[in-house]
Amino acid sequence: MFKELQVAFSEHTKIFSKNSKSLIANIRTGNCIFLSNEIVGIYKRAEEKKLSFDELFSCVEESNSRELLVKVSEKLDVLKMWKHNEKEVLNMRKSKISLDITNNCNLRCRHCCISAGDNLRGKELSTDEIFTIIDRMMLFDPNDVTVSGGEPMIREDFFEITEKIRSVYNGNLSLMTNGTLIKEEATAKYLVQMYDSFSLSLDGYDEASCAAIRGKGVYDEVINAVKLLRKHTNKISLSMIKTSDNIEYTSLFRELCKSLDVKPVIRLFEPVGRGKELYDKVTVDRENDPSCINWNHVEEKFVSKKLYKYKPQIFACQGAISEFQIDQKGDVYPCPMFMDEEFKLFNILDLTEPEEFITSRKYLSSNGFFNFSKYLPENVPHCSGCTKQLLCFSCAAEIQRMMLTGDIEKRCAEYSNYFDMYWRDYERI
Ligand SMILES: C[S@@+](CC[C@H](N)C(=O)[O-])C[C@H]1O[C@@H](n2cnc3c(N)ncnc32)[C@H](O)[C@@H]1O
Ligand code: SF4
Ligand code: SF4
Repeated sequence: MFKELQVAFSEHTKIFSKNSKSLIANIRTGNCIFLSNEIVGIYKRAEEKKLSFDELFSCVEESNSRELLVKVSEKLDVLKMWKHNEKEVLNMRKSKISLDITNNCNLRCRHCCISAGDNLRGKELSTDEIFTIIDRMMLFDPNDVTVSGGEPMIREDFFEITEKIRSVYNGNLSLMTNGTLIKEEATAKYLVQMYDSFSLSLDGYDEASCAAIRGKGVYDEVINAVKLLRKHTNKISLSMIKTSDNIEYTSLFRELCKSLDVKPVIRLFEPVGRGKELYDKVTVDRENDPSCINWNHVEEKFVSKKLYKYKPQIFACQGAISEFQIDQKGDVYPCPMFMDEEFKLFNILDLTEPEEFITSRKYLSSNGFFNFSKYLPENVPHCSGCTKQLLCFSCAAEIQRMMLTGDIEKRCAEYSNYFDMYWRDYERI
């Protein structure tokens, strides 16, 4: 029972107060809730005076108010907002890892974020070195691992690597592949036994649209792979990257996915790797993008759909906390979108005491983490003092993209009013 414990918010709980409301948000769990400033003020005073919950409750004479305070405190406990919840949050957090086993690829997609096949990231590691990476990866205590690349299936030892992973790990395992090397029914059957889910990429809805990005003849190969896998599993997603020159194809792409009975995934284009050179040519033009919100009707919709009653999604980036990207050299990064040298946390093969280094999270004092944290909302110069910073962005890569393009101020002018709506008193309208 937490009532004997001291009233104290977790260090991961951020509080933003404005008008008469406060947003209480835990950036590790993504939980959030709006409370009155009055109640938050009561907790803050109790925290200063180092009161226990019981002591706090006994200060409230009026029984209805006391009951309300008990209920709110319990709700905040369920949402893991208190200091005493921190250990539990740490323990329940398993890691999510993306493991690139090669930088090589049989395709040369024009936007490839890791410039696969261009040999920019050094030579391939041996099977034994990859096995060492897999053993050390287990020190992160993962429950979600994605094998990717480059094209992971291009490695001759791909099946050996798959068996090695399965010999040390039994959590969720996904394969991210361009699909062109799944040609036989037997391969598909084997993969479905070893992997829990599959992400294939197509970037088009027919031969011409796919060829413009992935190359000639790739469309038929991917469709064939999807059909072979689909005979044995329904855990398949097919992706397309949305850019200004293919935006009108997105509905056709969705129709195609429906006909194949797979999940469509529309990815945002990231100006990374080969994509960097393409940015000006293919980036989505927000003003003419029909999928962007029509801001003139936002408030109308916000009120008519009672959106103020729903919890907004908050920024709860897990990069370098419980999400890691391991590249084919064993370099570890906070996320697939932060794979430049400046964001490198460490090399997993270079560690002399891997267990001590990883379990005590020494990488949090690396230059790589320092550089990555510049893209967390509280460190963005334009946003550091803003009460809406946790509502405004969904991920650090989005912030980085906007800082690179200088779009942050433009977007602020559009979105700022929208997020203000959460602090307005709509209940009384
Ligand atoms: C780098 S690929 C590796 C796996 C495999 N070769 C494939 O193409 O699916 C992983 C995913 O990243 C996506 N991707 C590549 N370049 C990207 C970019 N510039 N922005 C966003 N996603 C990108 C691909 O479309 C693919 O879905
Ligand atoms: S996106 Fe995938 S298939 Fe295309 S070049 Fe990059 S790694 Fe290869
Ligand atoms: S872009 Fe504007 S509204 Fe969004 S967090 Fe930054 S300052 Fe706040």
